[in-house]
Amino acid sequence: MKRLVVYYSFSGNTRAMAKRIARALRADIAEIRTIKTYPDDLDVLLGLAKREIESGYMPQIVPLSVDASKYDVIVLGTPIWWNSFSPAVKKFASSISWKGKTVYPFSTNDKGAGHAQSDFKKALRGATVAPLLNLKFDEKTLLTPLSEINEWLLGISK
Ligand SMILES: Cc1cc2nc3c(=O)[nH]c(=O)nc-3n(C[C@H](O)[C@H](O)[C@H](O)COP(=O)(O)O)c2cc1C
Repeated sequence: MKRLVVYYSFSGNTRAMAKRIARALRADIAEIRTIKTYPDDLDVLLGLAKREIESGYMPQIVPLSVDASKYDVIVLGTPIWWNSFSPAVKKFASSISWKGKTVYPFSTNDKGAGHAQSDFKKALRGATVAPLLNLKFDEKTLLTPLSEINEWLLGISK
């Protein structure tokens, strides 16, 4: 059974990690893209994202390039926005049935994953949700040791 790496990325960190993970797992890969692009101005984006997350708003997303419902194992990547997964990932999570699937979530951020793990468990109802791999960045530089990522990858390829 082929595995799928699905991710959203605003500024590239999650995309870079998703590509690396998909290559290591020889998995298929698909990007979640919003129909309306978010503003580039960070202060405007922070305010908009806060309002979206607090209200539970989910932006419209472009249909994925693959049918995610066909995969039993999904690696799901997100940047942390206001201590949770991004609204685009929330939208994707609400768009398929998770029953019987195993999900390996990962996040990128500069402070920490906040409550993303428990939010994923709630959003992916019916799935077995593995412990979140949290990848710390300083701007564009990955701080998490590669050994930690490799160990996590071993758990998926078993
Ligand atoms: C709107 C917004 C909210 C963010 N909130 C958090 C946060 O709560 N905690 C944190 O550690 N990083 C936060 N960040 C930083 C991002 O999670 C981090 O830069 C991430 O690696 C970006 O991933 P991307 O390049 O794939 O978009 C936030 C960034 C943005 C744009």
